[in-house]
Amino acid sequence: MAGGLALQPFSMPQAYAAGADVIKIAVIGCGGRGTGAVFQAFDTGHNIQLVAMADAFRDRIDKSYKPIFDKYGAEKVNVPEDRKFVGFEGYKEAIKLADVVILAAPPGFRPDHFEEAVKQGKQIFMEKPVATDSAGIRKVLAAAEEAKRKKLNVVVGLQRHYQSNYRETIKQIHDGKIGDIIGGQVYWNDGGVWVNARQPGQTEMEYQMRNWYYFNWLCGDHIVEQHVHNLDVANWVKQSYPVKAYGTGGRQVRTGKDHGEIFDHHSVTFTYADDTVIFSECRHFPGAANRVDESFQGTTGKAYLSAGNHGELTSWKGKSLYSHNRDNNPNPYQVEHDELFAAIVKGEYKFADAENAAKSTMTAILGRYATYTGKVVTWDEALNADINLMPTTLAWDAMPKVLPNADGFYPFAIPGKTQLV
Ligand SMILES: NC(=O)c1ccc[n+]([C@@H]2O[C@H](COP(=O)([O-])OP(=O)(O)OC[C@H]3O[C@@H](n4cnc5c(N)ncnc54)[C@H](O)[C@@H]3O)[C@@H](O)[C@H]2O)c1
Repeated sequence: MAGGLALQPFSMPQAYAAGADVIKIAVIGCGGRGTGAVFQAFDTGHNIQLVAMADAFRDRIDKSYKPIFDKYGAEKVNVPEDRKFVGFEGYKEAIKLADVVILAAPPGFRPDHFEEAVKQGKQIFMEKPVATDSAGIRKVLAAAEEAKRKKLNVVVGLQRHYQSNYRETIKQIHDGKIGDIIGGQVYWNDGGVWVNARQPGQTEMEYQMRNWYYFNWLCGDHIVEQHVHNLDVANWVKQSYPVKAYGTGGRQVRTGKDHGEIFDHHSVTFTYADDTVIFSECRHFPGAANRVDESFQGTTGKAYLSAGNHGELTSWKGKSLYSHNRDNNPNPYQVEHDELFAAIVKGEYKFADAENAAKSTMTAILGRYATYTGKVVTWDEALNADINLMPTTLAWDAMPKVLPNADGFYPFAIPGKTQLV
């Protein structure tokens, strides 16, 4: 699973090992996370230079460039105009210029961006989720194999794998502290995210791209975009992936024209090969009780984990079996980059996170397929389904596959009526 292979050497220019040469980085997708990841790469303290930026929109590059340049200056931020790539295809050129790439566009593009970065033999940090549909997952799995063959380090931003409470507590679970895991509950319940209002003159493609969260080809629905973190923890604890899912969901609160096609709640039971059932719930209901965490039940005790550095193991009689020290835990977003760049400068092949990330993303997509159809959907059906949500053509005047009706509302899934394919 993600977060560190048995150590193997790989071929990188010797100069990295000596720390003498610059490591060139490029960022693809210059929004909040891409910009944050560039900061974290610089804050590793290695000899790093940002040499290229790519984004669908010029204004997003400008908004990202300024704070990076203001903090790190011309010596580290060497991105002249001809290395700021705008549009759908710029990622290929940006990747060419770098040794290490940060892939942080919306998840629908990740399979193509990852495949290209692997093809070009680059070291990779990529954000989760890593796809939004079955075709995308299959592409990422194939590229993950190729990355292993080429010994390219791949770290994925499922940062709980780089967070000490998760690492240490799950190690205790795997060592048998609470027996065999026979059940669990994972949650991402919060109030939801931003909306960008439609602007006069925008093409449908631009509107959807500016509002990527609400369209499945770009986002995968919030069960994929956010809840993947908690589902990934369940898979990590279980050391396997579910064999089937059954669920319910819909649009109860967030129903406007501004909210595209995604649901605002999903509730799914995931069954694993040993018949363990993990219950999963995610919702975007402003004003309702928030909850983002994971609980598991074992044959001899129970576990509680959360991103707030919790890691508690308790026997069924209430005795504490393990309690993670919550003080001074390092920021996992920084640890991801510290560990990735440390491996790169030493010429080590240490990280192959892509396969697990693809399978945890597939888990979340499987959940969406189950809530959209209202049927039991198996892992094999979901992974092999002929489902490719990407537009046939990526251009500002091309049409995405899901379009609004005459009143401006988008079609959305109706459980019991919507078919898997
Ligand atoms: N690990 C975490 O905790 C975490 C937190 C936030 C976001 N993320 C992930 O990071 C990714 C980006 O999220 P964000 O919050 O930064 O979103 P954002 O909207 O702020 O940034 C996305 C950027 O990608 C650009 N973009 C869109 N299509 C592109 C393309 N084809 N090529 C290049 N750029 C393109 C957008 O214009 C935008 O600037 C998502 O996958 C998200 O799930 C992860």
